[in-house]
Amino acid sequence: MAKNVIVIGTQWGDEGKGKIVDWLTDSVKAVVRFQGGNNAGHTLVVGGKKTILRLIPSGILHDGVRCFIGSGVVVSPQALFEEIEELKKAGVDVESRLIIAPTCPLILPYHKALDHAREAAKGDKKIGTTGRGIGPAYEDKVARRSIRAIDLFNLPLLQEKIKANLEIYNVQLQHLYGQQPVEFDVVYQELISYAERIKPLIGDVSNTLYQIHKSGGKILFEGAQGTLLDIDYGTYPFVTSSNCVAGAASAGAGVAPQMLDYVLGIVKAYTTRVGSGPFPTELFDDTGKLLAERGNEFGSVTGRPRRCGWFDAPALRRSLQINGVTGMCITKLDVLDTLPEIKICTGYKIGDKTVDILPFGSDEVSLCEPIYETMAGWQSNTFGVQKYEDLPENARNYLQRLQELVGVPVSIVSTGPDRVQTIIVEHPFDN
Ligand code: GDP
Ligand code: IMO
Ligand code: MG
Repeated sequence: MAKNVIVIGTQWGDEGKGKIVDWLTDSVKAVVRFQGGNNAGHTLVVGGKKTILRLIPSGILHDGVRCFIGSGVVVSPQALFEEIEELKKAGVDVESRLIIAPTCPLILPYHKALDHAREAAKGDKKIGTTGRGIGPAYEDKVARRSIRAIDLFNLPLLQEKIKANLEIYNVQLQHLYGQQPVEFDVVYQELISYAERIKPLIGDVSNTLYQIHKSGGKILFEGAQGTLLDIDYGTYPFVTSSNCVAGAASAGAGVAPQMLDYVLGIVKAYTTRVGSGPFPTELFDDTGKLLAERGNEFGSVTGRPRRCGWFDAPALRRSLQINGVTGMCITKLDVLDTLPEIKICTGYKIGDKTVDILPFGSDEVSLCEPIYETMAGWQSNTFGVQKYEDLPENARNYLQRLQELVGVPVSIVSTGPDRVQTIIVEHPFDN
């Protein structure tokens, strides 16, 4: 029986990870974020009430479940407490159940300033980041100059580190981008204003997870972003700045790889992308608009419209392979309900070559021309269906075809945003 399950986005993010993590939390003692930051926007709907989480694990709505932010996550103290306050207003107690790793790099105002300045300077070549300072914060980590959560316990050293970083950032902001410098006092005072509240949340994530695991508790690992936004394997440079693949959970949470038993790949029944970068099956016609409208495809963090397109099997093959996906959860099937015909991309043409798996990097991916096959739609309502056999025959045919094309079974189907609008084919924790 699977003890620990990892939920991974298999496309360009926003596949519906949050909904499924919340739903699976019924079975676990702990939910862990292991990469990304508040660039994520994970939407949970419970009894018609919507909650959008950015940094806090999507298990938080379940009383008694412990939530963890591992070392692979970049943490904005400001965003963290905004989210904690929002949840508090909704009656959810966060601070008694959340542990943050001491080694988490912090996102500070100069990271956001540089993210914005760079994007503005790039003009139409911009990445379309979420503007949350994610890229610069991860750069600091790799450059070994991050201010980390643990630094809040040594204020003289913290001041020194901030000053050293500002020397680097302000040169870039002023002289490369013509922006105002960021003042030391602004950064330090803001950080100090949060310090006493963050300090009690800091704890040994890695060891606590190990102890929960050893005593038989199940753990859910919550991926953010999606495999095609992964810093190594995505459409580089139009990617985020962390590894979003299943393998990242081990390093990012500080647990052994043997602790990851079941990889649940979240797969939207079509494809979306927010921000710039190549997208082979993108639709620019009325069908694209229909998917955007029916799927309410607007970024949960930035409100930007998401680009929409057909299901892309070669992209999925890459993603399922890299993540070792055990079972797929197909989400937003209901969004396709009204279509008379549905296309599936089965491979790409690149010049006179045909390929069946997504190449690496944006230069190659932008050369991919999709090869489509067409299936009949079902043109009936699947919204809220809870049993597989209650799905219309053509919807079942569509799911069957997706499985055949990518070679991984479907374990869950999602037919609406609410927790209960879910079909279980094989429960990941019963596997
Ligand atoms: P995440 O980032 O992967 O957690 O996904 P987001 O929350 O950013 O985006 C998914 C959107 O689709 C949210 O608005 C969800 O409420 C919604 N959603 C999730 N599953 C379904 C589904 O099966 N059908 C419909 N219609 N909406 C869904
Ligand atoms: P969830 O977890 C969709 C995209 C941004 C941009 C690129 C880099 O909700 O699926 P960044 O701010 O990370 O430097 O932006 O990555 N991006 C996402 N797109 N869903 C997300 O998260 C995303 N997080 C980042 O739009 O193209
Ligand atoms: Mg999202």
